[in-house]
Amino acid sequence: MKNYNSGIAVFLMLLVLALYTEPASSQKLSIDQRVDSLLKLMTLEEKIGQMNQYSGFEEATGPVTEEADKLEQLRRGMIGSMLNVTGATKTRQAQEVALQSRLRIPLLFGQDIIHGYRTIFPIPLAEAASWNLEAIELSARVAATEASAAGVHWTFAPMVDISRDPRWGRVMEGAGEDPYLGSLVAVARVNGFQGNGFGSPDALMACGKHFAAYGAAIGGRDYNSVDMSLQHLHNDYLKPFKAAVDAGVATMMTAFNDINGIPATANKYILRHLLRDEWNFKGFVVSDWGSVGEMINHGYSADEADAAKAALLGGCDMDMESRCYIKNMKNLVLSGHISESMIDESVRLILRKKFEMGLFDDPYRFCNEEREKQQWDNKEHREIARNIARKSIVLLKNDKSLLPLKENVKTIAMIGPLVKAVGENNGFWSYSWPDDSARIVTQWQGIRNRAGEHVNLLYAKGCEISEPDSSGFKEAVEIAMKADVVIMSIGESANMSGEAKSRSNIQLPGVQEELIKAVYATGKPVIVLINAGRPLVFNWTADHAHAILYTWWLGTEAGNAIADVVFGDYNPSGKLPMTFPRSEGQIPVYYNYFNTGRPPKDENDLNYVSAYIDLPNSPRFPFGYGLSYTSFSISEPELNTTTITAGEELSIRVTVANTGNADGTETIQLYFRDKVGSLVRPVKQLAGFQQVFLKKGESRTLIFTLTEKDLRFYNENLEFKSEPGEFEVFTGNSSDNVKGKTFYLK
Ligand code: GLC
Repeated sequence: MKNYNSGIAVFLMLLVLALYTEPASSQKLSIDQRVDSLLKLMTLEEKIGQMNQYSGFEEATGPVTEEADKLEQLRRGMIGSMLNVTGATKTRQAQEVALQSRLRIPLLFGQDIIHGYRTIFPIPLAEAASWNLEAIELSARVAATEASAAGVHWTFAPMVDISRDPRWGRVMEGAGEDPYLGSLVAVARVNGFQGNGFGSPDALMACGKHFAAYGAAIGGRDYNSVDMSLQHLHNDYLKPFKAAVDAGVATMMTAFNDINGIPATANKYILRHLLRDEWNFKGFVVSDWGSVGEMINHGYSADEADAAKAALLGGCDMDMESRCYIKNMKNLVLSGHISESMIDESVRLILRKKFEMGLFDDPYRFCNEEREKQQWDNKEHREIARNIARKSIVLLKNDKSLLPLKENVKTIAMIGPLVKAVGENNGFWSYSWPDDSARIVTQWQGIRNRAGEHVNLLYAKGCEISEPDSSGFKEAVEIAMKADVVIMSIGESANMSGEAKSRSNIQLPGVQEELIKAVYATGKPVIVLINAGRPLVFNWTADHAHAILYTWWLGTEAGNAIADVVFGDYNPSGKLPMTFPRSEGQIPVYYNYFNTGRPPKDENDLNYVSAYIDLPNSPRFPFGYGLSYTSFSISEPELNTTTITAGEELSIRVTVANTGNADGTETIQLYFRDKVGSLVRPVKQLAGFQQVFLKKGESRTLIFTLTEKDLRFYNENLEFKSEPGEFEVFTGNSSDNVKGKTFYLK
């Protein structure tokens, strides 16, 4: 028996082993093993196909390059990813064609889900003005939930470009001028988009863009060159990218610009040395639209083959829309200019993401018509959008507490070209839907809904956004005369900011400021809502309007969010994420400037100092500025010590009290200054902030901490180090309204 048993045991063991070592279904292998086993089966053409990304069958988001027979190329596995193909049905159709290819490698569907998909959220610059990281993360989470239900796997967001130049139209897409705030917002957005991680059907792969320093385009002119020291690059422009990588961003997108003469798309220093070697980035890099081929225009590549070679050697894994890779890479390999192992390296990174997203297990897991329907009119999403929209509004002025509107207001005149605008409220990088006129809450409707029937609402457009025609002024003045208060909604049009929307003149377009003057002359109280994707220059209005709300572009719930603030249902708490200049001549103007050797003593000092003879150095509205319907008192910062060494913490206590007549939220900001450095250091650097909601009469003590690590910067040798010496720490509710204390780093 024993033998029999042992014989059976041996047989059973062999059987198990035979079963176990049978080619297990690929799901039991690690992702890297599955990638490698697939790679081994791929021809060179099929590998290069994975590095090729085309725009799909919907509206192009860039200059349309030559048409290619996309379906045939899909069938032959010559396309690894498509953008601008959305909807469960359309993505399923395209995926079905891709799965006819020899190795049935699924497509990745990418899309610019920048601030919402079906529910449109405030533009990113507006969201940054909320300084509310939870709300920003939730906004991205909702966008991911809706977009993934529509077949999208990958969003080309967050855009994390720092910018100090409001002439650049793409400031609307980022988080403003500050590296610290920009880094925290980048992390919130990456986490929001990527949610519970790849493999979750509602997680989107995020994309840190545009790598790098795109926001420093000379003259604020889109796609223009960038020229800056590596210290400046590291100390300011790279920080949000590093934060996104540390947060696990799946992909990065190269910028259009050259950086110190080398186009970002082939820039080994940023794409290989920094991104991969220093930052240990494990995702893949996609070019921006056509940016590989555009290196010919840059004068960096002689032809498309040269561009393809430079981009791949530089560290760009996927070619969006230039076709340089698909047309040239095979010959570059066969002629020995590019090694196939380099191709394999990029293809591995791309395939790994497709495996991580679960697309090999179920290529249609995001093409779920039922789920798409469920997400198509999600009421909860609208509430979430409304909530962050009202937090994004910045109260710039409120003379005699005109706002919030009082109960005795019986007639309101709403005047201006944006009062009844519909799609404009969504801003650039948004989606328009056939039912938008029923879905988007206009500013007129928002005020109408909230004012109630006992309030008489009058309307006059007054003028167009950009037209010189002032014939509508008469009607506007007439209705203003009949009103207790006037609410004017003016600004840019939504497509005056965004990509390829640089403006040399950032004043109110057309005759809008003249319209405001005409209405102001009636003597009625005038509230101005300014809609824009960037800081604008509006000095007369800033000097004369009785109240000003900067409403950016607030998305689907714009009208309701504005009404919440105008009627005081929400006490505005927004703070500017970007400095507002007094004139274009001041640009770039920003809060974290270097002091120079001849700082003016005050605004009137012109005696051989660094100042304009025709304009104060101070901005119109500073970084971090925003008013409230209540008032707050903020104590001097109290330090636990005046000296710290590495490893020790400086603790800073600040007591905030709500001294006004309304509950409200204040954002206490923490800055520091390194008084003497081996490189000159900014007069202020944001290093912390806390938002606190206080009921009227309530006070709270906040505690901030600073450590030696917070004081580090990239020095002349690009070493990231702090330097002992004297520092100043500041706390307050705006970069120009702080109280300071000295401390030392030993
Ligand atoms: C555009 C933009 C980029 C976007 C891409 C795809 O040109 O620069 O931000 O993600 O093309 O639409």
